[in-house]
Amino acid sequence: MKKYDFDQVIDRRNTSSYKWDNPMYAGKSMLPMPVADMEFVVADEILEALDKITQHGVLGYSIVPDSLKLLAQKRIQEEYHWTTELDWQVWLPGIVPGITLACDLFSNDARGVLTAIPVYHPFHLIPTWLNRPLLTFPMVEKDGRWTYDFVAFEEALKQKPGVFLFCNPHNPGGTVFNQAEIDRIVALCKQYDCLIISDEIHADLRIHPQSKHICIGQYIEEIPSISFFATSKAFNTAGLGGCVTIIPHQKTREAFIKKTFGYMPMLSRHSIDVMSAAYLHGSNWLSQLLPYLKQNHDYLMDFVNQTSGLDMVPLEATYLAWISYDPTWGDLPERLLENGLHVLRGEQFKGKNFIRLNFACSKTQLQEACQIIASLAH
Ligand SMILES: Cc1ncc(COP(=O)(O)O)c(C=O)c1O
Repeated sequence: MKKYDFDQVIDRRNTSSYKWDNPMYAGKSMLPMPVADMEFVVADEILEALDKITQHGVLGYSIVPDSLKLLAQKRIQEEYHWTTELDWQVWLPGIVPGITLACDLFSNDARGVLTAIPVYHPFHLIPTWLNRPLLTFPMVEKDGRWTYDFVAFEEALKQKPGVFLFCNPHNPGGTVFNQAEIDRIVALCKQYDCLIISDEIHADLRIHPQSKHICIGQYIEEIPSISFFATSKAFNTAGLGGCVTIIPHQKTREAFIKKTFGYMPMLSRHSIDVMSAAYLHGSNWLSQLLPYLKQNHDYLMDFVNQTSGLDMVPLEATYLAWISYDPTWGDLPERLLENGLHVLRGEQFKGKNFIRLNFACSKTQLQEACQIIASLAH
């Protein structure tokens, strides 16, 4: 079994990297930690799949082969214990466009889009793009993890949103929703007749050994749902996209498929073959990645705990830390930017006095980030 070296620092500048080649950095030295991709080289088998395409040299249109459909079905069964039918699958080039289509279809002027805050920013931008009402409710810190304020959730549901956008595992903050929470969400959405759109892109990035991923879509008897899964986040192939949408309810699925016509391009051969390679051969790489992320997580937690005026709860999944800072830090994201560290402002996720920091990088890069933060302490 190959041993991967996640300590290796790779220069990604001048590679058209959304993260490293941000025009805002021109002429400045910057450690970028805003965008959710990882600083690591992907699994060998993924590179081999890409080499094979290059050697063949033909880049025509592609279809999703049955072999990939079976691999996705198997993964959902074996890793998340949800038995799905192949017919329920709809393959798309990306999750965000898929969620946008679903919101367009299943919300309207009277029945808006509900989501928790903080949350991955497209969740609250999508209703704005579509001119649909946005309804939100807060997450709360309870027993050392982020969870929903269920009273506020129910109050928001009383306003009759058409769809509820669920992010599990949650970005930012890393909650893997447990059975009791899933049961409550299903019961409330059923009571208020609200379609659940579930984004599970981070499901394979569980760094807390006890956390178990539960697919909300398995409660098909209870409520229609649309669930999104992808290999792109866990196997660090975000730039290639690709996802599988699981829609058990026939009428919902047919309406969704119809809505994709003309809007969704086909998947590329690259994304199809890379997804297959990730499902088939990615486990060695992933099994080494997760402990590395956990080590970085623990390093960051220790740093935050030892630094006055900063706070963070341990993450169960993802590499996106949600760190609060008290007012003595001033405008922390701006001060960090001036000092060569770019993190996302909490406001982008509708959270005040927070930063979101991506720790999927080499340990030395994380240490450098912590040193920059420490240098601004008073
Ligand atoms: C929760 C969540 N969903 C979706 C995405 C992006 O998915 P895609 O690139 O397939 O649109 C991200 C990227 O960070 C994410 O964190």
